[in-house]
Amino acid sequence: MVKVIFSGIQPSGIPTIGNYLGAIRQFVELQEDNECYFCVVNQHAITVPQDPKELRENTRSLAALYVASGLDPNKATLFIQSEVPAHTELSWLIQTFTYMGELERMTQFKDKAEKQSAVSSALFTYPTLMAADILLYNADIVPVGEDQKQHIELTRDVAQRFNNRYGETFVIPDIQLPKVGARIMSLQDPTKKMSKSDENQRAFISMLDSPKQIEKKIKSAVTDSDMEIRYDKENKPGVSNLLAIYASCTNQTVADAEKHFQGKGYGDLKKEVAEAVISVIEPIQQRYEKLINSNELDDILDEGAKKANEVAEKTLHKVKKKMGLIR
Ligand code: AMP
Ligand code: TRP
Repeated sequence: MVKVIFSGIQPSGIPTIGNYLGAIRQFVELQEDNECYFCVVNQHAITVPQDPKELRENTRSLAALYVASGLDPNKATLFIQSEVPAHTELSWLIQTFTYMGELERMTQFKDKAEKQSAVSSALFTYPTLMAADILLYNADIVPVGEDQKQHIELTRDVAQRFNNRYGETFVIPDIQLPKVGARIMSLQDPTKKMSKSDENQRAFISMLDSPKQIEKKIKSAVTDSDMEIRYDKENKPGVSNLLAIYASCTNQTVADAEKHFQGKGYGDLKKEVAEAVISVIEPIQQRYEKLINSNELDDILDEGAKKANEVAEKTLHKVKKKMGLIR
């Protein structure tokens, strides 16, 4: 049966291989047999300070990387969140039945708030915008990395609450995690997730890094002092992360990757991980170069916004009617 799929990535930097392996690559598979919506969630990005020029560029880059990674505008709807006003409007409505206590429990909020000198109220209510994104399209499935689990659970809770209060309206979405690569870790601190907004450039591999930069970053990745290549997240987080990246890039299980490196040293591991990453990223970069300054990209985004607006408006109208907001 055809399912509705929704997911989004923030243009808060250039996407990393964590975003690719944990999210975008799943999107490409899902578009084949489903009704898919993939969004550049620029209004999520502004919950922390952004430079407007950089935000505009990163938004366009992310959209181009969606297409360059294999998302096909004939199969999936690709669009920019701020071009569909229903998202922020529904988010407000959702805030009226989301509790402070629920938002206070969100670990991403706590992590991000800690790093800000001034915390915006939008950073706090961010999960209600995410819930709006998903619920507007009646999504059955939300493919994301593991870090988003709590936000999806909150989305389910508030959707259920609305349905109980006002009658069946929202589809309750399920999360879908990738089998390998659900959580790619920082190369410099392998107990933290790899993030495009990390201050330390060596902690992440961006999808637009050159092969040389990729080699360098992987060479300087933190490992440990013993010599054994073994998957053991607890005691060997750095080596385990490299094994997971390798397995994910070469489409094998971590157990197979472990076997492949039996008897080899960390030097071999790093060299082969870099090769594997480069062979995944290079073809994407070639397509990206052709797209980034093209009118084709604008046409894709215009068309995507048009389709998304049609679907989103319908859901929003239904919700407003149930809440007594339509004359
Ligand atoms: P974000 O970069 O926070 O907008 O995340 C966009 C998507 O990429 C979400 O589905 C995340 O779960 C996923 N993602 C982000 N970082 C990682 C990572 N280090 N490993 C795996 N998935 C990730
Ligand atoms: N919060 C997600 C993240 O940081 C991004 C996101 C926003 C999202 N809206 C979404 C993901 C809707 C899936 C569905 O990764």
